Amino acid sequence: MPSAHLTIDPHFEVGRIDRRVFGGFVEHLGRHVYDGIYEPGHPAADAEGFRTDVVELVRELGVSTIRYPGGNFVSGFRWEDSVGPREERPRRLDLAWHSTETNEVGLHEFSSWLDKVGSELMLAVNLGTRGTLEALDLLEYANLAGGTALSQRRIDNGRTDAFGVRMWCLGNEMDGPWQLGHRSADDYGKIASRTAKAMRQLDPSIELVVCGSSSAHMPTFGEWERVVLTHAYDDVDYISCHAYYEEKDGDLGSFLASAVDMDGFIETVVATADHVKAVRGSDKTVNISFDEWNVWYLSRFQNVDKIEGLDNWPVAPRLLEDVYSVADAVVFGNLMISLLKHADRVTSASLAQLVNVIAPIMTEPGGPAWRQTTFFPFSITSRLAQGAALELKLDAPTYETKEYGVVPLVDAVATHDASTGRSAVFLVNRSTTEALDVTVDVASLGDVSVLESHTLADEDAYAKNTLAEPERVAPHENDSVRIEGGALTVTLPPVSWTALSLG
Ligand code: AHR
Repeated sequence: MPSAHLTIDPHFEVGRIDRRVFGGFVEHLGRHVYDGIYEPGHPAADAEGFRTDVVELVRELGVSTIRYPGGNFVSGFRWEDSVGPREERPRRLDLAWHSTETNEVGLHEFSSWLDKVGSELMLAVNLGTRGTLEALDLLEYANLAGGTALSQRRIDNGRTDAFGVRMWCLGNEMDGPWQLGHRSADDYGKIASRTAKAMRQLDPSIELVVCGSSSAHMPTFGEWERVVLTHAYDDVDYISCHAYYEEKDGDLGSFLASAVDMDGFIETVVATADHVKAVRGSDKTVNISFDEWNVWYLSRFQNVDKIEGLDNWPVAPRLLEDVYSVADAVVFGNLMISLLKHADRVTSASLAQLVNVIAPIMTEPGGPAWRQTTFFPFSITSRLAQGAALELKLDAPTYETKEYGVVPLVDAVATHDASTGRSAVFLVNRSTTEALDVTVDVASLGDVSVLESHTLADEDAYAKNTLAEPERVAPHENDSVRIEGGALTVTLPPVSWTALSLG
């Protein structure tokens, strides 16, 4: 059996883990909001129409900040439609997803749902089809205590206290030709800078995210970041990254190495941001908000799911309802490892998305809610990864991939919380055929034992949880783990994700 070796030392910190890295994303898209989190009439719905079974699952998932309301949706969104008496709210076309938006759930209702799930709101403003003034109006409506027409409107709409939204995205994926109001880097950089300055003039305490690239494979990648930051560096706190991965042409080996792409994406954006910092002689550091990441079978959406037709604008259609396999969850867990390995610069991230739409949680109208395979790596990592991410010394055998060349068979990250003395190790085995023995040198952690072990694997790497079989896949305890003489040993099955908690 091939073997890998890694050394953990709590003195070698990459950076503190910001809880915002365990963020999520709720877009008005498909059955995410309607028939997802909100379904009045469902037996589990509360007085406001929110499904309590979904609330419980979102709490269990352990999501910090939640980005809202889009996504591509936000670039055609008029925020004013979504507040005030419900019966007066207009039905609007959502051009991004070729659907009808009823505006039954808006800012106030969503904020109330966030209180139930225990998460913080992160808002995106529309810089696609709208501009600085509308962004300012929304900020005033949301964050000003009172004394003006807009803040009074919020109070009249039933919310006395300001929403106090801290994080704001300056538009969404403005580099993408599919985006309503798509712009050049130069044009976007200018409007982002102007809007950011204006928003800070109103509320200096906010944190701002400027749009980076929609993927590291956009033709403008790299140059987009340089030009946008050259305009907006002094005005923003974060630059965004978005990345989605899928298995293509049955090439499981490359798919399992997707985190190699994410590592490179992060490191290139860090280098570009630091280049702009150096050119400007700035002493401020712009960090990354990886505010869309996941496995997404985008090609299926483009070829099968897409809605068309002038007379066809459904409400809450089934869109982007990917059903995730064990292999998908292993890649997903590896993407979380990549985010944590860069904890010094990735200080915010949003899993895209949460319910029904490329989501860890699925629901059936009038029926149950269940956990997809990807639910487990998220909930376990969010719970166990505390304190700081550690620099690892990893020696692992390699394999050849079509997409990324020669890559390690194992990827891993460790975390350590000095306040509790607890550590955690997260590992993946990317081999499609062989189990791997891993030895972890834990001597510098002192006299520790294994508190928890979880491995997600299956004889069928394509096993899934479905409505018919909602508990087909779940992580199990890894009974191969041993600690002896400062060395931890564990066997990782092929195509597997593992989390170990030590203390
Ligand atoms: O998450 C689905 C979509 O992916 C988002 O709306 C968009 O920002 C991205 O292209």
